[in-house]
Amino acid sequence: MMTSKKSHTAEEIQELLLSQLAEALKIQPDEIDIRASLDSYGLDSTQAMSLVTQTEKLLGFEVSPMLLWHYPNIEALSQRLAEESEDLKSEKQTSTTVVKTTTVDLSAEAVLDPTIRPTSQSFQFTGRLDNVFLTGGTGFLGAFIIQELLHKTHADIYCLVRAAHQEEGKLKLKQNLQRYFVWEEEFSPRIIPVLGDLSKPRLGISTEGFEMLAANLDAIYHSAAMLNYVYPYSALKAANVLGTQEVLRMASLYKVKPVHYVSSVAIFESPVYAGKVVKEQDDFDHWEGIFLGYSQTKWVAEKLVKIASDRGLPVTIHRPPLISGHSQTGVCNTDDFISLMIKGCLAMGCFPDVEYMIDMSPVDYVSQAIVYLSRQKESLGKAFHLQHPQPVSFKKLIDWMRSFGFPLELVPYDKWQAQLVNNVSSVDNPLYTLRPFLLERWSKEQLTIPDLYLQAKRPIISCQDTLNALAGSSIVCPPIDSQLFMTYSAYLIESGFLNVV
Ligand SMILES: NC(=O)c1ccc[n+]([C@@H]2O[C@H](COP(=O)([O-])OP(=O)(O)OC[C@H]3O[C@@H](n4cnc5c(N)ncnc54)[C@H](OP(=O)(O)O)[C@@H]3O)[C@@H](O)[C@H]2O)c1
Repeated sequence: MMTSKKSHTAEEIQELLLSQLAEALKIQPDEIDIRASLDSYGLDSTQAMSLVTQTEKLLGFEVSPMLLWHYPNIEALSQRLAEESEDLKSEKQTSTTVVKTTTVDLSAEAVLDPTIRPTSQSFQFTGRLDNVFLTGGTGFLGAFIIQELLHKTHADIYCLVRAAHQEEGKLKLKQNLQRYFVWEEEFSPRIIPVLGDLSKPRLGISTEGFEMLAANLDAIYHSAAMLNYVYPYSALKAANVLGTQEVLRMASLYKVKPVHYVSSVAIFESPVYAGKVVKEQDDFDHWEGIFLGYSQTKWVAEKLVKIASDRGLPVTIHRPPLISGHSQTGVCNTDDFISLMIKGCLAMGCFPDVEYMIDMSPVDYVSQAIVYLSRQKESLGKAFHLQHPQPVSFKKLIDWMRSFGFPLELVPYDKWQAQLVNNVSSVDNPLYTLRPFLLERWSKEQLTIPDLYLQAKRPIISCQDTLNALAGSSIVCPPIDSQLFMTYSAYLIESGFLNVV
C-alpha cells in the first residue's frame, strides 16, 4: 500500500501532472494550458486512469479518478490534490478511497423545459410507422432494436450518430450491426444516419434538420446514453438528462409522436425501495441514496419523460436490468460490466463471494419486447420491467464456470478487494478501469458499491404486468441455464475475449 507521509505543494503537483500529461500526449509541458479542460486534450478513460496511477505512485496516496471530473483542469486538480496530500499527512491510509461527493438534489434537477409540451393537435394511435428516429444505433441494444424494427415494420430508421460526415455515420452503424451479427445488406437503404450529438441543443442537429424530422417522424426510440460507472452526475448530465430533454422537444414539436424511452431498473436504487416489491406503474419519487452518477441521470431522465407524459406526450418506458448477450449467437458487448468482471476475475483466479441474483436479460428478449410493446396502443403511458422472470443466483454462475473447466475460487469480498488493490495494477486487467467503482466507499455507512447492491439491499422488481402485456406475442425470455452459459462462453472464447489454456 501507498503510505508516504510527505505532503506536496500545489506547485509540485502541478509540475508533476504537467510532465505526466505531456508524456501521455507526446507534447512538451509548456504546450499545455493549466486552465484548459483535460477533456480538450482528448484523454480517453485508459489514459486518464494511467495519469491517475502515475500520480498515485509519485504522491504516495490513492487518487480518486472522480477528481478528474470535479476538478477538470491541471490548476484546479493540483490545488485539490495538495489539500488532500496535507490532509493525509498525518492520517492512516485505508485500502479504499472515501469519496467526497457533493449530494446533487435530483428532484431539483428533474425540471422539464416548460416550452416542451405537445401541440394542441391530439395524437391518434394508428400503429403505422413510416419514419422513426432512433438514438443509440451504434450501441449494443440499439443494434438489436434496429434489427427488430427492420423486420417487424416497413419504417425507414433515422439514426442519430456522432460522425464527421454521412458516409462515416453510415459506416459506424453498419460496423456496429456487423459486430453483433445483425447486418443484412438488403435493409441498408432503410438505415439513414443523422449526424448529431445527444449532449448538444437540438441533439446537435441543424435547426432545419431538427424541424424537418419533427414534422415527419412517426415515433422516436431513445436508447442512447453514456454508460459509465465511474463518472459523477455532472459528467453524464449533458448526454443522459439534457439529451433526453432534446428528444422530448423533438417529439412534441409540430406533429405529436410517441417516445419509447429505454430507462433502467437503476431508477429504484434508493434504499427506500430495499426489500420492497416495485411494480411497473409504481411511483419512483425516491432518489435519496442513489450513489452512482449514471443511475442518478437515469432517474432524472425518466422523471423528465414522466413530466412530458403528464403534459400529454404519448410515451412508453422500458426498464431493462443488465442486458446480456444474444441467447442464440451469444454475441454480447464485451466492454460491459459483466464481461469485464468475468474476464478480470478469471485473470485474478477468484470471484468475490457475494449474495447476488443474476439480474440480467438477453438482448434479443429486451429488443423484441421493446419493439412489440411500443406498438401496442394499450402500452402508451406505461412502464415495463424487462427483468428476467426466473433469475438465478450468482453462485450458480460460478458453478457453471467451474464445470466448463475455468479454475475459480470464491473468496470473501474483503479478501477479493485486497487482491484487486494489490495485484490489479495494470491496464491489462479489465478490472483496472473499474477499480474506483469497486473500491470507493459511499453513503453514511461508507459502503462500497458492491455492498450497496447486495441482494438484501435491492428492491424486488416485479415484471408480472410486462409478462401479461407480452402474453399475446410469442416473446419469451430465454431461461438462464447451463445451455445459455455454454452459448455465452463459446462466443467469448471464439471471439478471443477469453483465453482458455
Ligand atoms: N447495457 C445494459 O446492461 C443496460 C441496462 C439497463 C439499461 N440500459 C440502457 O439501455 C440503453 C442502451 O444501452 P447499451 O448497452 O446499448 O449502451 P452502449 O452499447 O454503451 O451504447 C450507447 C449508445 O449511446 C450513444 N451515445 C452516447 N453518448 C452519445 C452522444 N453524446 N451523442 C450521441 N450518441 C451517444 C453511443 O454512441 P457512440 O457509439 O457514438 O458512443 C451508443 O450508440 C441506455 O439508455 C442504457 O442506459 C442498458
